[in-house]
Amino acid sequence: MAFIPSDGTKISSDSIRMDTVPAPEKRFILAHFSDPHIVCIGQIKWRDFINKRLFGYLRWKLHRKTEHRNEILASLQKDLQRTKPDHIAITGDLTHMSLPSEFKKVRRWLQSLGTPTQVTVVPGNHDAYVRTDWHKTFACWLDYMVSDTQYQQTSPANSFNDLFPTLRVRGQIALIGVCTARPNTPYLAIGSIGAFQLKKLETILKQTAGQRLFRIMSIHHPPISGIVSWRRRLTDAPALRKLLARYGTELILHGHAHKTAHNTLSIPAGLTPVMGAPSASSLGRTYERRARCYVYKIIRSGGGWDVNIAERVYSPNDYCFIPGGEQRFYVPAMAG
Ligand SMILES: [Fe+2]
Repeated sequence: MAFIPSDGTKISSDSIRMDTVPAPEKRFILAHFSDPHIVCIGQIKWRDFINKRLFGYLRWKLHRKTEHRNEILASLQKDLQRTKPDHIAITGDLTHMSLPSEFKKVRRWLQSLGTPTQVTVVPGNHDAYVRTDWHKTFACWLDYMVSDTQYQQTSPANSFNDLFPTLRVRGQIALIGVCTARPNTPYLAIGSIGAFQLKKLETILKQTAGQRLFRIMSIHHPPISGIVSWRRRLTDAPALRKLLARYGTELILHGHAHKTAHNTLSIPAGLTPVMGAPSASSLGRTYERRARCYVYKIIRSGGGWDVNIAERVYSPNDYCFIPGGEQRFYVPAMAG
């Protein structure tokens, strides 16, 4: 794939083709945010603490309670109503302790944002904080995660391996969801994709390459090094990068770092943008950690794509999201 910042520096790309391709001039607007960490502290029972959740609860009481704010999420919802994106991508940690009550609360919040076909979710490590009953947790969000083809299936997925990776195609945009969530010991927040999912991902990347699609991969853990510490890393990032080097993708979105992270992944075809969003509910100890939503405007141009990225940043003084930085890139099409 190809990716050229507005300053003209060459970066890279590939492509898909589907029957539902709209008029070439149609602009697609995607909103991306991450890590809202929605909690239901009031509904916690003592038996919920007989595991890693005790650490999550203590962290919440000591630090995150003041960091993650419901009013910021309410403000984000209002801002999205004004932005009116064609689609919303949320890259994990929707809950804080993977409590069934949190999953239900998140479900209601997702419904307030859009329909399952308008919003795509991948889980984060906090969503799999401990082992849980699938039917009381992830089943609540199933329609916000599944591939287009899984909508038609009569037997719903009941594990990450059943479900991921996912593929949703909206016009010329292909949304590829990768799950890295897995339970960890208290000190760790690592993620893994696993051999089974990587194999299926290879098929999706291979099939979607060269079809004139703008492919966006959503993943919670950043797939490149240097963004998070060893204890928060993606264990099989090298295997993922190997697939990306072979088949490419036009854009990678992630969360997990709780800070802005604008990077690129170097592959033989060029550079792929890797964009990390901070927590969508965070007041932010520093400006780079403050709640943000990224609005991508993607339009086909010549043989490739024009991509405009506009930040919407929460302003504690104004109690609303305001414009932040803006970048523009050109992504040339890569031969399939
Ligand atoms: Fe998080």
